[in-house]
Amino acid sequence: MTMPPEAYLWFKALHIVGVVVWFAGLFYLVRLFIYHVEAAEMDPPVKQAFEEQYMLMERRLVNIITTPGMVLAVSMAVGLLIAQPSWLYQSWMHAKLALVAALLAYHAFCYRLMGQLRRGECKWSGRQLRALNELPTLILVLVVMLVVFKNQFPTGAATWLIVGLVLFMAISIQLYARWRRLQKQTPIKNISHGE
Ligand code: HEM
Repeated sequence: MTMPPEAYLWFKALHIVGVVVWFAGLFYLVRLFIYHVEAAEMDPPVKQAFEEQYMLMERRLVNIITTPGMVLAVSMAVGLLIAQPSWLYQSWMHAKLALVAALLAYHAFCYRLMGQLRRGECKWSGRQLRALNELPTLILVLVVMLVVFKNQFPTGAATWLIVGLVLFMAISIQLYARWRRLQKQTPIKNISHGE
């Protein structure tokens, strides 16, 4: 089957759109899980209302954004490989496929967590979920670097600087969340009395 020459570019453009939608969905989904888990600390009637709302938002997000984004990204990637099968013999592509397999496993895991949250069986704390949410960031940075640099993947100072920045951001987010938790635990009595 011969493809028109612009087909490759169409596949690539739609592949990038799919990737953006997929990641937006994955990032927001785990953020919703964090709010959902933390709703357990609320008073019972409020808690129930919030949990129902989060369940609805999670289901819609997965069905309308996250999974369709994944399907678009992967199906367009298959189109790219059919149009140019030689990519499959390159080592950067092997590394990329391994990372994509990890991302697909993460997607499936999030789907499972969503079911556990719905049934009230989720054992993950908000803190653990925040840490989990850093995993797709790491995969995103590595995959984008692989597609841009391909077999010339850089291992010099600039790469370590980027890795350091990503780690710094991840640690800052964790520390900020912990600081907010501690602020919440401060008794209101002390604040209102200016103590
Ligand atoms: C199903 C697995 C995937 C396969 C087989 C695949 C394959 C490809 C191929 C063959 C290209 C074209 C490379 C070029 O023309 O230079 C490409 C481009 C791209 N891919 Fe993927 N991809 C996959 C998943 C992903 C994921 C998960 C991400 C994001 C984390 C991603 C991000 C990108 C980006 C940003 C480009 C554009 C690169 C450029 O134009 O230089 N891909 N992909």
